Amino acid sequence: MSEKRPPLEGEVYYPSPEVVAQARVKDWEALARRADEDLTGFWAAEAEELEWYRKWNRVLDDSDKPFFKWFAGAQCNIVHNALDRHQKTWRRNKLSLVWVGEKGDVRTYSYFALHRDVCRFANVLKAMGVRKGDRVTIYMPRIPEIAIAMLASAKIGAIHSVVYGGFSVDALQQRIEDSESRVVITADGGFMNGKIVELKKTVDEAVKHAPSVETVIVVQRTGHEVRIEAGRDYWYHDLMKLPLAQPVCATEVMESHDPLFILYTSGSTGKPKGLIHGHGGYMTGVYSTLKYVFDIKDEDRYWCAADPGWITGHSYIVYGPLLLGATTFMYEGSPTFPYPNRWWSLIEKYGISILYTAPTAIRGLMRFGESWPNRHDLSTLRLLGSVGEPINPEAWRWYHRVIGKGRCPIMDTWWQTETGMFMITPTPVVPLKPGSGTRPFFGQQAEILDEKGDPVPDGEEGFLALKRPWPAMALTVYRDPERYKNLYWSQYPGKYMAGDSAKKDKDGYFWVIGRTDDVIKVSGYRLGTAEVESALVSHPAIAEAAVIGLPHEVKGNAIHCYCMLRKGFKPSEELADEVKAHVAQHLGPIVRPEKVTFVDSLPKTRSGKIMRRVLKARAQGLPEGDLSTMED
Ligand code: WTA
Repeated sequence: MSEKRPPLEGEVYYPSPEVVAQARVKDWEALARRADEDLTGFWAAEAEELEWYRKWNRVLDDSDKPFFKWFAGAQCNIVHNALDRHQKTWRRNKLSLVWVGEKGDVRTYSYFALHRDVCRFANVLKAMGVRKGDRVTIYMPRIPEIAIAMLASAKIGAIHSVVYGGFSVDALQQRIEDSESRVVITADGGFMNGKIVELKKTVDEAVKHAPSVETVIVVQRTGHEVRIEAGRDYWYHDLMKLPLAQPVCATEVMESHDPLFILYTSGSTGKPKGLIHGHGGYMTGVYSTLKYVFDIKDEDRYWCAADPGWITGHSYIVYGPLLLGATTFMYEGSPTFPYPNRWWSLIEKYGISILYTAPTAIRGLMRFGESWPNRHDLSTLRLLGSVGEPINPEAWRWYHRVIGKGRCPIMDTWWQTETGMFMITPTPVVPLKPGSGTRPFFGQQAEILDEKGDPVPDGEEGFLALKRPWPAMALTVYRDPERYKNLYWSQYPGKYMAGDSAKKDKDGYFWVIGRTDDVIKVSGYRLGTAEVESALVSHPAIAEAAVIGLPHEVKGNAIHCYCMLRKGFKPSEELADEVKAHVAQHLGPIVRPEKVTFVDSLPKTRSGKIMRRVLKARAQGLPEGDLSTMED
């Protein structure tokens, strides 16, 4: 295919004949052309591969932009396609989930068993009064019950809001309050780095101020003692033993654009926003992208090592693999516990064929050297993936050479909570360049624009925008449609502004550089400066604070805080440590600042806005740029 065209520029890795031979789509350019010419035709054909209770009357209703309605008029439920329909085929006996705990305990679920437990828990939720449209907050470790809770809630038409287990009280409380959840599902803890993460304690604190919560359901994972409040808290295993927890439960019929979940994500200002994804479009987009990009086959054992609490886990641990009838692998703990070979030993022991992780994990493991992975047989691997932040070419080459033994193409997938599915990504046969997500997925077109919305020349940095609607696009921001419109669709009319800066090269390959707003990607986690700043000023010593992200070797970026002290407080090492601990306690260990610096003043505009870019430039010894709007 590619013999006749001029060679691509730069460091290029062409697919081997073996990779091409096993790829589902060999002529990706032809498919890309077809999807480009007939966007709705392409997506309708993808949707036809799934089951619908009622077919759509329009593939895409764009009469109320930017609130696009995919598969308008259709009825479906994502759980019907993820679980119910497999019961009719041989897949009911196939493994849906292989789970390993940090202590080495193993649990496996066939499609039959997962469906049974989801039905049983769905009946429990119903008995607890959960109805279609109700919100359910899920705050759990990486254990099978997190997937069961999500699927059970979706099955009965409730809306789940998963909060990542690495977040703490303030973050959880805000998210429960905003979603007005009636039920919180949690665990007595989870294992991470040999220690117990006290999830239940955090829930107890958070629900104190969340009057909507009627019920807390607690999964027993660690077996250590936790407080159980009579009349509010119930053990999961007790509920699942009740006669009402029948293994049969009808799946609720949903309109295509009925909400499936809320996922909170940090934005530029204020509190985190609850992005909403719906059943039909999301289901189709996630199914199709996972099918083409990771090219999953029945014999695969696919491992997405993210956490279900982030969009990557929603789309590509829980929903995507089940929609495809694949076997998905989940591991509870940390990659380096008890030794830095934990992941490699899991790949060997469970015969993982596809590994999808984040650059920060690769950089973290790379530090320990090649001897750890080299002690393990990694020959089952056939594809690798990367997500969450730009992958530096050095980490890419290590991943490719040491883990993939030069045989496994790396799918560098660029996308967002908002997009729900991969947006810029290769498929296995696309020639790769380390650090580039290559090109937009089938049917999508991307471009790099300047402030005014004009395309910048190839090779120049600008704002990344998407030109065409896609099925897994967020429906809106929960209870704030104006915010959705303003944040993403108002900068460049008709186009989606991603909030990233990027370049496009002469070959049409995209290179994402980083965020252009006040989102900081720390170890691939998406954090907002506003949340960290409000945690800082809740400390009695701090009057004002500004937060920026600065480059970090392993984490990608790290949080740096500049704080002005209140009268009577003096800067000291001890106070800086105390402030770091304060932030970690309020928001979660992943948000712990790298450095706290005490300052006498902060650079501000005359209207009083903190100029974070000035702080950032100063910290890195770079030019400070235009200072004309700065107050004296
Ligand atoms: C960044 C994660 C470069 C980007 C799925 C985006 C990436 C933000 C990549 C969304 C990638 C994600 N290369 N940057 N392959 N993937 N990003 O919502 O800045 O947690 O805007 O979704 O992560 O983060 P989110």
